[in-house]
Amino acid sequence: MDRQVLQDRVAIITGAARGLGEGIARAMAREGARTVLFSRTVALLEKLAKDIRDSGQAAVYFPVDVTDAGQVNRAVGEVLSRFGRIDILVNNAAVAPSLPFLETSDELLDSVIDTNIKGVFNCTRAVLPGMIERRYGKIVNISSVTGPRVSNQGLSVYSASKGAVSGFTKSIALEVAEHGINVNAILPGSFDTPMMRSMAASRGFDSEDAYIKEVGKEIPLGRLGTMDEAGDLAVFLASEASKYITGTEIIIDGGNIIQEHK
Ligand SMILES: NC(=O)c1ccc[n+]([C@@H]2O[C@H](COP(=O)([O-])OP(=O)(O)OC[C@H]3O[C@@H](n4cnc5c(N)ncnc54)[C@H](O)[C@@H]3O)[C@@H](O)[C@H]2O)c1
Repeated sequence: MDRQVLQDRVAIITGAARGLGEGIARAMAREGARTVLFSRTVALLEKLAKDIRDSGQAAVYFPVDVTDAGQVNRAVGEVLSRFGRIDILVNNAAVAPSLPFLETSDELLDSVIDTNIKGVFNCTRAVLPGMIERRYGKIVNISSVTGPRVSNQGLSVYSASKGAVSGFTKSIALEVAEHGINVNAILPGSFDTPMMRSMAASRGFDSEDAYIKEVGKEIPLGRLGTMDEAGDLAVFLASEASKYITGTEIIIDGGNIIQEHK
């Protein structure tokens, strides 16, 4: 059999229990990576890890809340003692509440900042020393078109958090370039995940399916993206095929951002 593009690489994926994180974990496992799944929902993590192991790849999971640096550091320590190294980190975990800015409480603001920004800092800080020592690493930050490129009503805090992830991606890419580490961001448009479906009510839809169908109609390629498609792009950015790419943001949105009018 041909060598798989991520064969034996050790990959941590945060927020892996469902949605894009799950798709990325499955795609990396298909390409030979040993996947390490971080998220909060143990039952989902357990099922995903079992599915991946049943397909013949190694997978372990840790119930980790990325907002808690202690939990992140402990889990990363365990991964290092088990696998000896971490080659890939996908910072995917995030929350996306949708509501008017003036109705945003301090608690909600903190939870978005803590998850979407501090979570990325916590995980990156935990894996970088080992990557620097080994002079190898691929960090893939899941940002969004929302914030760095466009926005919508109700997404001011989410947009700000994703803008921060984009800025962080560029700066950290420069800091670690001399150590042989690539850091890039994926900017997804609309993907059919629980997060996207959770926005149906705030957009005035009674049914999540109707919302997803409507969003799909607006997209030039005629539909939302799939978990597998997000996974394929993450695999590319985590592989040697992208070794001369760093500090970049790649949009994956079915052409949605380029159209002036539908
Ligand atoms: N779905 C889309 O259309 C879309 C578009 C643009 C960007 N994104 C980004 O893609 C990523 C994944 O989104 P999704 O749609 O799959 O979301 P989702 O809500 O379906 O899944 C997110 C996962 O992250 C986990 N998570 C949340 N907070 C966490 C924490 N503190 N610690 C650990 N895990 C935590 C959740 O439990 C869940 O498993 C996010 O960064 C999101 O901002 C998604």
